[in-house]
Amino acid sequence: MATDQPAPPAIAIRDLDVVRGDNHVLHGVSLEVPAGKITGLLGPSGCGKSTLMRSIVGVQIVGGGEIEVLGAAAGSPELRPRVGYVTQAPSVYGDLSVAENLGYFGSLYGVGSDRIATTIGTVGLRGFEGRITGTLSGGQRSRVSLATALLNDPDLLVLDEPTVGLDPVLRDELWRTFGELAKAGTTLLVSSHVMDEAGECDELLLMREGRLLRQTTPAALREETGQQDLGKAFLTVIERSEQPS
Ligand SMILES: Nc1ncnc2c1ncn2[C@@H]1O[C@H](COP(=O)(O)OP(=O)(O)O)[C@@H](O)[C@H]1O
Ligand SMILES: [Mg+2]
Repeated sequence: MATDQPAPPAIAIRDLDVVRGDNHVLHGVSLEVPAGKITGLLGPSGCGKSTLMRSIVGVQIVGGGEIEVLGAAAGSPELRPRVGYVTQAPSVYGDLSVAENLGYFGSLYGVGSDRIATTIGTVGLRGFEGRITGTLSGGQRSRVSLATALLNDPDLLVLDEPTVGLDPVLRDELWRTFGELAKAGTTLLVSSHVMDEAGECDELLLMREGRLLRQTTPAALREETGQQDLGKAFLTVIERSEQPS
């Protein structure tokens, strides 16, 4: 007997409009991010992915629309311990060791050394605690950034292009970590301008020029377009969206 209610979405956005400087960046974006899954936010550079993420974590002035995050208005103080955000630029100190970086962020969030040790394990950096962060590989440094966002065990993780510049093996490892976090119940919103990462996601948000073209899944996108390759499938969606109706 179907008494199970679907879980409420982790993020619900209606008619979001954002202007930055002279640029009208987001045009009436509406979407829902399901809880406990990996949602990929995909689209070419400049389409508005970072602006959308900034709006979700409450650091972007928005021109109109509504954004609900974990049942509260985006940017509400009660969301701070529940939302982890990793920006596109590295957000850790290159001249501190891994342990010192996490100790510093841990003291800001009020988490203890046990939690720091657990988090280092989660991101696969056990054994690297004493290494100066600036001497790590790009992939390892991304993991230190990720660890800072994981320290207080957030319900929602917003990761802006976390795999950019990583080699395929490291990218794969990072996606495996994301999968484990989702399995443990965390909601992940992960942006990328590389369409071949779409296959790693449960849910897809396809953006172009400040508009959401589709909210779909890898399987439904393949079905809709008849393209197995998700990059080609995205191009098909773009072409169809440009045809005069
Ligand atoms: N601080 C800013 N002032 C004015 N325009 C901006 C600013 N930041 C970004 N933009 C513009 O907003 C658009 C979307 O940028 P962004 O959200 O960073 O896209 P993406 O993350 O998909 O590359 C781009 O056209 C960019 O030039
Ligand atoms: Mg960006």
